[in-house]
Amino acid sequence: MRVMAVGFGLFLLLALTTPFCFGANVTYDHRALVIDGKRRVLVSGSIHYPRSTPQMWPDLIQKSKDGGLEVIETYVFWNLHEPVQGQYDFEGAKDLVKFVKLVKDAGLFVHLRIGPYVCAEWNYGGFPLWLHFIPGIVFRTDNEPFKAEMKRFTAKIVDMMKQESLYASQGGPIILSQIENEYGNMEKSYGNSGRTYINWAAKMATSLGTGVPWVMCKQQDAPDPIIDTCNGFYCDQYVPNSNNKPKMWTENWTGWFASFGGAVPFRPVEDIAFAVARFYQLGGTFQNYYMYHGGTNFGRTTGGPFILTSYDYDAPIDEYGLVNQPKWGHLKDLHKAIKLCEEAMVATDPKTTSLGSKLEATVYKTESGQCAAFLANYGTQSDATVQFNGKSYSLPAWSVSILPDCKNVALNTAKINSVSATANFVRQPLKDETTATEMSLSGWSWVNEPVGISSDIAFTKPGLLEQINTTADQSDYLWYSLSYEAKGVNSFLTDGSQTFLHIDSLGHALYVFINGHLAGSGNGRYEKPKVSMDVPVTLRPGKNKIDLLSLTVGLQNYGAFFDKVGAGVTGPVQLKGSQNGSVVDLSSQQWTYQVGLKGEDLGLYTGSSSLWVSQPTLPNNQPLVWYKTTFDAPSGNSPVALDFTGMGKGEAWINGQSIGRYWPTFIAPSGGCANPCDYRGPFNSNKCLKNCGKPSQQLYHVPRSWLKPSGNILVLFEEIGGNPTKLSLATRETESICSLVSDTHPLPVDMWTSSDEETRKIAGPTLSLGCPSADQVISKIKFVSFGTPRGTCGSFSHGQCSSKMARSIVEQACIGSRSCKIGVSVNTFGDPCAGIVKSLAVEASCSL
Ligand code: GAL
Repeated sequence: MRVMAVGFGLFLLLALTTPFCFGANVTYDHRALVIDGKRRVLVSGSIHYPRSTPQMWPDLIQKSKDGGLEVIETYVFWNLHEPVQGQYDFEGAKDLVKFVKLVKDAGLFVHLRIGPYVCAEWNYGGFPLWLHFIPGIVFRTDNEPFKAEMKRFTAKIVDMMKQESLYASQGGPIILSQIENEYGNMEKSYGNSGRTYINWAAKMATSLGTGVPWVMCKQQDAPDPIIDTCNGFYCDQYVPNSNNKPKMWTENWTGWFASFGGAVPFRPVEDIAFAVARFYQLGGTFQNYYMYHGGTNFGRTTGGPFILTSYDYDAPIDEYGLVNQPKWGHLKDLHKAIKLCEEAMVATDPKTTSLGSKLEATVYKTESGQCAAFLANYGTQSDATVQFNGKSYSLPAWSVSILPDCKNVALNTAKINSVSATANFVRQPLKDETTATEMSLSGWSWVNEPVGISSDIAFTKPGLLEQINTTADQSDYLWYSLSYEAKGVNSFLTDGSQTFLHIDSLGHALYVFINGHLAGSGNGRYEKPKVSMDVPVTLRPGKNKIDLLSLTVGLQNYGAFFDKVGAGVTGPVQLKGSQNGSVVDLSSQQWTYQVGLKGEDLGLYTGSSSLWVSQPTLPNNQPLVWYKTTFDAPSGNSPVALDFTGMGKGEAWINGQSIGRYWPTFIAPSGGCANPCDYRGPFNSNKCLKNCGKPSQQLYHVPRSWLKPSGNILVLFEEIGGNPTKLSLATRETESICSLVSDTHPLPVDMWTSSDEETRKIAGPTLSLGCPSADQVISKIKFVSFGTPRGTCGSFSHGQCSSKMARSIVEQACIGSRSCKIGVSVNTFGDPCAGIVKSLAVEASCSL
C-alpha cells in the first residue's frame, strides 16, 4: 500500500514538474492559450541562442525560470543554418535542437519564431545572401522563387522539431510558432501581392501540421486560424482581429538596441512593470519580453547597418549573463503577483470601471467567489488615493497595484521591493603567457595588410560596382582601385590650388589611399549610412594609385525591400580642382576590384602564419595592421570582456573565433542623456539614454568557454590605426547588492499567499538581500540607514533621520549568510522620527 502511495506520489510529482511526458493539446479561445483544456496566463522571454554560447544556455534558462518565466521565445536564424544553399549547419551555438531541449529540461515551454524573416537587428534580417542571387526572386511577396525557398526552410525546421518530438503535441515544449515577422508594417508597399503572400504564408504554415497554434505579429489581417499578436512598448489597448483569438504580446521591448555612434538606450523597470501589469489588467494572457537576455552579436552577425556588437538591450539578464538589477528582481516579483491572479483571470472576462480621471479598476470575479483586481493610475504626474471596495489605496502616478484577493496589495509596479545591485568591470592587464608579467610591446607581433589589390582573383570592370552584389557579403571589405595618369598639362598639377577627390558612397565606411598613403576616411551612421566626401589629395606627375577601401558594417535588416538596399562606392568619383572648377570624372574608368583582404584570405585571424613579425617596432597609429598576442585567462569564473581603449575600428578574434566588430572611436552625441530619466509617461527608444559623449561600446564580451587557462591567441585587424598596448581585459563582477524598502511598501510578494492573511498582517514590509551566486555569503554591510536615506545603490547617503541601532541589527541578521530578511518597521529598529514615513536602505558586498 505504502509502495503504491509512494509510486503514485512520484508519478504526480513527475507529472507536475515535467509537463512534457505526454503530448499536450494546445489550442486557444478568446481569453488565452488553452493547454490540455486549461486556459493559461503565461509569461515569456526572448533568448536568441546564437547571441550567447551553448555553455551559457543552461544558466540563462535557469535564471529565466527563477525570474518567473514559463516560456522561452527564440527566432530561427536562416543565414546561420544555411550559409550555402542546401548546406545546413546546426553545430555549436547553432544547435537549435539542443537549445530547445535544454528549455524543455528546465520545464519551460518554447515559442519558436521561424520567420524566416526575423528582423532582429541581425545581418540581412536573417536571410542568407545567396537568396538574393536566385533569378527572378523578390523577397517577402507573392513571388514563386521566394515562396519556394521560404517553404523549404520553414518545412525543414518544422521537420527537425518533429523528428525530435519537440512539439507540445508530441510531448515536447513548443507550444507556439510564428510565421513571417511584422509584415503588417510593410504590406502596403508590396501592393496586392502583399495580401496574397500573407494568405499563402498562413496556409503554408498551417499545412505543416505542427499541432500547435501559429501567430503573426503586427499583422492585423492575419487570416484564421493564425493569431495576430502585438509588439511594442505597450500593448494594453490591443484588440485581436477576431473574438475567438486571445490578446497576446509577442514583443515587449525591455530596452532598445544601440548602434555605433549612438547613445545606449535603457528602459526603467517601473515603466516595464506598469506596461506588463496594464496588459494583464486589460485582458492580456500571454506576454513576451524582447529581450529577456539580449547577448552579443558575435562575428559579422549584426544587422543594421551600424548595429552595435553588444545586444545587451538593457534586458533583465545582461549581455554577460548576470541578472540586471533591479530589473530582473522587480519583474520576478511582478510575475509572482500576476500568477497569484491566474485562476480568477482565466475563469472570466475582465470588468473595468473608472475610479476617477486616469484611474481605473479591473476586476476578475468568478461565480465561485474567486476575485483578483488591478488598480491603475495611468496619469503621468499626480499620485492618487482611490477608494475600492470600501478601502483606500494609494496609487503613485504611472503605476498599477495588483490585488490577488481583491483586498490586499501584493505589488505596486512603481515600488521596487527586491534586491538591486551594481555590477562593474574590474580591469586586468593582459599577461604575457610565458613570463606571467604584464604584457609589454614585445608581446605583440603584426602583419601589414597591403594597400590596394594584392590578390590574383582581383578583376577589372568599367564603372563603379555596388558592393553587396560584388562581395555577396563574403567580407566587409571591397577594394576599388584605379591608376590615374596625371599629365603635366593637367590643371590639377599646374594651377597651384588644392585638388580634392570627391566620392559618393552608399556606405557604410570608406578609406581613401593615394599612392599608398591614407588621405582620408569617412563613415555614415545608423540614421544615414551614406558617405559623401571631398578628400584633399596631392597627385604627382605620371601614374597615381587611387585605392578606395569600402566597408559594410552589417547589412540592412528592416524596411520594405530592405534586401535591395545597396552599399559601396557607386559614385560619382571625381577629381576636382578648387580654383578653376575643373572636374575629371573617374566613375566610368576601368576599376580593379578585390573582395576581402589578403589577411582574410590567409586566415590570419587564426593566428597561424609565417608572416607574423615582431621587429623592428610595433606599428602605432597606422592603418591596416593585423596584430597578434597571447594572454592568460583571468582567474575565476566571472564573465570576461576586452576593453578596446586605444584602438580605432576593426574586428577581433580569440582563438580563431570572432568576438565581433569593434569601434570604440565612434562617439555618441553629447546631448540627450537626461538624468535621471523619469519612468512616468510613455516610453520611446530616445527617452532614456546613456553613454552620451562616450564611445557607444568600449567593452566587448569574450565568452569564457572560448578561453583556455593560458596561451589564448588574440588577433585584431585594425583599420584606422591604434595602439594595441593600451588594450586591457576586464571581468564583470557584482560589486554591491542593495535594497531600499519603505515602511509603507506592500508586503513582499514572496510572503503573499491568499490563504495566509494573518502572516501578512504581522510581517509588514520586509527588506531582503541575497548574493548573486550560491557559493557566496554577505561579507560586509557597506551602508545602512533606517530613517530617510537618499540615493540609489552605490551612492546611498543618510538623510536627517537615521536610527542608531540599524547597523548592528542588519549586520547581525545578514553577515555570513547567503541571504537575509529584515522587517522594515519601528518594531525592529525603534522610531528615530515619529510621524514620518521611514525607509530601510542597505548596501552590502558578498564574497566566497
Ligand atoms: C521588432 C522586430 C524585432 C526587432 C525589434 C527591435 O520590430 O520584430 O525583430 O528588430 O523590432 O529590436
